[in-house]
Amino acid sequence: MIVTIDGPAGSGKSTVARLLAARLGVAHLDTGAMYRAVTVAGLRRGIDLADEAALSRLAGEVRIDLVRDGDGLRVLVDDEDVTAAIRENDVSRRTFHAASNEGVRSVLVEAQRRIGRQWGSLVTEGRDQGTVVFPTADVKFYLDASAEERARRRHRELVQRGKEAAVASILEELRQRDASDRNRKVGPLRAAEDAVVVDTTRMTIDEVVDALMRHVRRAGGA
Ligand code: DC
Repeated sequence: MIVTIDGPAGSGKSTVARLLAARLGVAHLDTGAMYRAVTVAGLRRGIDLADEAALSRLAGEVRIDLVRDGDGLRVLVDDEDVTAAIRENDVSRRTFHAASNEGVRSVLVEAQRRIGRQWGSLVTEGRDQGTVVFPTADVKFYLDASAEERARRRHRELVQRGKEAAVASILEELRQRDASDRNRKVGPLRAAEDAVVVDTTRMTIDEVVDALMRHVRRAGGA
């Protein structure tokens, strides 16, 4: 069974995908981690991320492994653990190069389909999972929330990790990432026509997971 969850940054996708996968007893695939991993590999090798041909070549050369570790996933690039590095702010900011690179996308889309075949059942999250990567998925979701709420969530996360940031600047950065995600030519962020759209603005994580579970059950998946 394949369940896809797409949506913008801060919509709750990652937490919800992890919890839904756990409830269903299937694997969770975080495809954003793969775009981030290509970015980290590029930075480590001193590649100009804006050089499309070089970054695309790199994506074809490196090996990215997602390894289940308790509740979470560890991300390895050529056997080096980059789980923490891919979450750095600088990497979040620069990953649009990999995300808008046609060559990188085709390498990663193929890798994601291969993982889908190997794992058999999974909850996969990203921007193009229901539209491009798994168009025949059993259940598709599109999570959304207002930009202000998404910025507040990011802010809360940062504060919990002991970091400081102004909500206004987080909001501005989110808007830039939204625009870049929605307007790129390849694999843009959008809801598949047959996706269930859930606005999570006023919902708790548990409420979202419960709502998604109801849909999966109705589709005969649990
Ligand atoms: O979900 P995230 O914030 O970890 O995603 C990181 C970046 O990768 C973000 O710029 C969107 C992009 N991305 C993408 O283009 N396609 C995906 N399937 C997943 C993420």
